[in-house]
Amino acid sequence: MHDDVERILFSEQEILGGIDRVAAEVTEAYRGVDFTVVSVLKGSCVFASDLIRRIPIPLELAFVSAQSYREGTTSGELEVNYFPAGDEIEGRTLLLVDDILDTGRTLQALTDELTRRGARDVRSCVFLDKPSRRAVSFEADFKVFEVEDLFVVGYGLDYAGRYRNLPFVGGLRPEVLTSAAAGADRVDV
Ligand code: IMP
Ligand code: MG
Repeated sequence: MHDDVERILFSEQEILGGIDRVAAEVTEAYRGVDFTVVSVLKGSCVFASDLIRRIPIPLELAFVSAQSYREGTTSGELEVNYFPAGDEIEGRTLLLVDDILDTGRTLQALTDELTRRGARDVRSCVFLDKPSRRAVSFEADFKVFEVEDLFVVGYGLDYAGRYRNLPFVGGLRPEVLTSAAAGADRVDV
């Protein structure tokens, strides 16, 4: 698996250092506020679990699950297949946590839908931000790192369902990205 990685962008140690910084920002922003961290499955499960353990104030945890119809590495139409129960959304202060902010469509759509369902406040926290790829004008309130326009894997991020368990973030070799596994697909975000 590691052989498919051409270069490492963020090591395990750099990642944990970045998360410490953002966890401190989140802690200050939500001190004294009842809030819920909403992890976007599947990609953000690794980030969310490291992040919440560095936030030493009360919080609740919820999940949303979305899938995107996409060609290879380009995001397409979003289908949300799991939302928290109504009372976990209505009147609540939510912090959406996602692995990467790319075109922005996923977080924009989830923010709009949670707001429509009655959330009081919806902010977002992303592990990675790829600003060069934005298709809608959406910015995260908290982010750990910015990345260039390169498809990355590891630390929760997948390619064709794999590599989420790598403890670091890396770029794949071009041969891997063009292999048969890349076909049009419905993928978890
Ligand atoms: P967006 O809706 O285009 O912002 O895409 C967000 C989703 O696309 C993320 O939650 C990821 O699942 C996926 N994605 C975007 N860029 C990458 C990448 O470089 N590596 C792995 N997944 C990515
Ligand atoms: Mg994904």
